[in-house]
Amino acid sequence: MGWAKVRLVPARAFKKILYGICIWTCLCYVVFRITNHKGAVTYLTARVNRGLLQNVQSMQALAAAAAVGGSAEFPTTPPPVNQDNPSGSRTPGIPQNFLDLEPQVDNSPALNEKQLLTLLANHSNLPLAYWSANKLRPIGSKSCVKFPSLYELDFNNIYWQRLQTSNGTYYLYAAYYDNRWRAGSVPVVRMLGMIDRIKPIPTICQLWFDKKKTVVFSQATYTYAWYSKWGNYKNGILQPYVISCKVPPKESGGQVPTSVSLVENRCDKPTTNLRILNERPKKKEDFAVCVKGLDFLHEDLSVRLVEWLELLNILGAKKVFLYELEVHPNISKVLNYYQKEGLVQLTPLTLPGNQPNLPGFRHLYLKSKLTHKRQNELIPYNDCLYRNLYSYEYVVLLDIDEIIMPVKYDSWSGLMKEVVQQALKEKNYTRASYNVRNVYFLDDLQDGDDLHHEAHELGIPRYLHMFQHVYRSKNFTKPGSYVKCFHNTERVVSLHNHFPLNCLGTCTTFSVNTSLAQLQHYRKDCVGSLKNSCKTDFRLYTLKDTTIWRYKDEAIKRTTRTLSRLGFFS
Ligand SMILES: *[C@@H]1O[C@H](CO)[C@@H](O)[C@H](O)[C@H]1NC(C)=O
Ligand SMILES: *[C@@H]1O[C@H](CO)[C@@H](O)[C@H](O)[C@H]1NC(C)=O
Ligand SMILES: *[C@@H]1O[C@H](CO)[C@@H](O)[C@H](O)[C@H]1NC(C)=O
Ligand SMILES: *[C@@H]1O[C@H](CO)[C@@H](O)[C@H](O)[C@H]1NC(C)=O
Ligand SMILES: *[C@@H]1O[C@H](CO)[C@@H](O)[C@H](O)[C@H]1NC(C)=O
Ligand SMILES: *[C@@H]1O[C@H](CO)[C@@H](O)[C@H](O)[C@H]1NC(C)=O
Repeated sequence: MGWAKVRLVPARAFKKILYGICIWTCLCYVVFRITNHKGAVTYLTARVNRGLLQNVQSMQALAAAAAVGGSAEFPTTPPPVNQDNPSGSRTPGIPQNFLDLEPQVDNSPALNEKQLLTLLANHSNLPLAYWSANKLRPIGSKSCVKFPSLYELDFNNIYWQRLQTSNGTYYLYAAYYDNRWRAGSVPVVRMLGMIDRIKPIPTICQLWFDKKKTVVFSQATYTYAWYSKWGNYKNGILQPYVISCKVPPKESGGQVPTSVSLVENRCDKPTTNLRILNERPKKKEDFAVCVKGLDFLHEDLSVRLVEWLELLNILGAKKVFLYELEVHPNISKVLNYYQKEGLVQLTPLTLPGNQPNLPGFRHLYLKSKLTHKRQNELIPYNDCLYRNLYSYEYVVLLDIDEIIMPVKYDSWSGLMKEVVQQALKEKNYTRASYNVRNVYFLDDLQDGDDLHHEAHELGIPRYLHMFQHVYRSKNFTKPGSYVKCFHNTERVVSLHNHFPLNCLGTCTTFSVNTSLAQLQHYRKDCVGSLKNSCKTDFRLYTLKDTTIWRYKDEAIKRTTRTLSRLGFFS
């Protein structure tokens, strides 16, 4: 009896100490991991780090759980002395009871092929037929071609499918169903792609329908989504196109095709197969904003982005569609947050063909090849348009340093009601676009007084860039240049940053009077092409324009709450 007691008491005390050591080392480990990753963002590890930053909370929880369980040992813990150890030998860094340890791994059951495909369904442009549970798969058994197997398609990279023809290579990004009545009585399947030819050879669409045993063929036509005078008008360089195929009413029987393959000759075995997007929400909203591929790996614009997104939402943007090439981990944090909130839809993006996709290097490539960059940008812009054809009345293409500011009214909907009325009065038809003129709010503009720029606007937090910068040039840029538009989704066929390039009918535009709205452009300096005249035209005469302060209270409340939730103040 006495013997048992003697052994028990020290064992309990010993256990307490052991638990203490465990918790302490876990804490040390967590702190070590977090501090170790601060500032350690390099080209190659950025993606991994982003994941880690997001997962800090779950890591802490995991470590805490391990500490409570007492089963986790870390190499820094000295192995406890135990007389019961038969071998009696101890190796530093090896847990003493390693023979009985159960490493913590993910033990969830492996997924079968169908489950894997279901998980992937919304991350790809492949037809749903490849992962739908039902037996709707098109087969084409009564045609000269069969529905291609998933594993025989030609992938250029994650988001691009490839067709190699006898004269030119095609990179296809996505396909959409377009039955807007202005396009004619016959519906059209549109594909977005890049082709290394300025005059692509004729090709054929193979249209696939759920349940149908036959494929439907249709001649493709090309809409060049670029102007030759903007440069890069050469074979060998990838050119943006909208590729259209009519859906013959008789053969289709009025059905909507579910996927499309592009081939050189009618009965060629297809190497591409794109899902045809055709989203039709019950209610058409008024405004969506589209943003080209974000390329800010080392530039932490996260707080600017929060301010921008909240203000857009206050003005009336129902959703902001952003494409992601590469962004700073803090920007990811912001975008993921708003995606969960429903304000943002983020779509990852790569460059097609032989262009680089290594994060960081791709940034340098886009910086040094400006015309290539502009040509590539047309893909996200037009994808945003076609995805939202039936979801929004207007899409607005903006950069994250631009805001369309209503002047007379306090919302986009109030603004557009009057704008459309004015336009109709002038000529009795809706326009393809309504353009708003550009004016600079340069970082260091002042009104001549010796105001200093740092946090000079009382009652407004320093971290709200736009609300702090209320001095602008008196001069707007010339009518028609550097404008941004409300694009009418009923009328446009291909979009460019500033104007629609192709429309159903003529690309008509209406210039919104500056007394109604202005495009506020927040920059360090004028854009490159205006640098020479910047001093005389835009820096000499300035004025204080506090229209934005109308939204001050709401914007301060919302941005501060979001930044606080995301841990920017802790
Ligand atoms: C894919 O997205 C659609 C709508 O966005 C949704 O209804 C569907 O459940 C998603 N499928 C999967 C497998 O996540
Ligand atoms: C490919 O097409 C171009 C016109 O786009 C033509 O000039 C050229 O000769 C063609 N090349 C071949 C090999 O057919
Ligand atoms: C404008 O056109 C519509 C039809 O597009 C017509 O109903 C309306 O009467 C016209 N208004 C005027 C003032 O001509
Ligand atoms: C813009 O509106 C103002 C005030 O309503 C008006 O005086 C001016 O003529 C308009 N400008 C143009 C170009 O229509
Ligand atoms: C506006 O720009 C013109 C040149 O286009 C310049 O001569 C003029 O001084 C500028 N006016 C103001 C008010 O900045
Ligand atoms: C933003 O990034 C910096 C540097 O990586 C980091 O120290 C900071 O914690 C991040 N902010 C948030 C809110 O995650």
